[in-house]
Amino acid sequence: MSRPMLRRAVCPGSFDPVTNGHLDIIGRASKLYDEVVVAVLVNKSKSGLFAIDERIEQLTKTTAVYGNIVIDSFRGLLVDFCRTHDIPTIVKGLRAVSDFDYELQMAQMNHSLAGVETLFMSTNPTYSFLSSSLVKEVATWGGDVSHLVPPLVMEQLRDRIKQ
Ligand code: PNS
Repeated sequence: MSRPMLRRAVCPGSFDPVTNGHLDIIGRASKLYDEVVVAVLVNKSKSGLFAIDERIEQLTKTTAVYGNIVIDSFRGLLVDFCRTHDIPTIVKGLRAVSDFDYELQMAQMNHSLAGVETLFMSTNPTYSFLSSSLVKEVATWGGDVSHLVPPLVMEQLRDRIKQ
């Protein structure tokens, strides 16, 4: 008897660090798919505030509650990661129209390269202005971002900025 096919999707990103906006998308995707792989981009030319291992740990801890999330990292093309892991679908959050142009371009490129589909999920309006880079900038200058990132990330942000 053949096994039922596992419906699997990937949520890719830099996650430097993971925000409540990311978690909103990951959590909602986890209800639509049997398994959601959160894939952290390893970007050699850009050293982040947090190392890849730290981001993976943050993601592992903050997504454990959903029960069907796997955290991984990748370098190179996302479609190659999708092919290797047998993932037919990318899930992306769209915050505003300004996100759309580039996201559409990437979605069409990924589809033309490997037939990988992209599903856009509208971001919860509570987080429509939120990005990891803004979180880092505001936190660096002493602004309160505790309502925008999980407590664990907040703690690590405080420590990192102190250094
Ligand atoms: O969180 P980010 O930095 O906005 O995520 C961007 C990411 C990682 C989703 C995107 O840069 C990506 O897919 N990079 C992998 C390289 C790749 O596949 N490039 C071709 C895109 S069509």
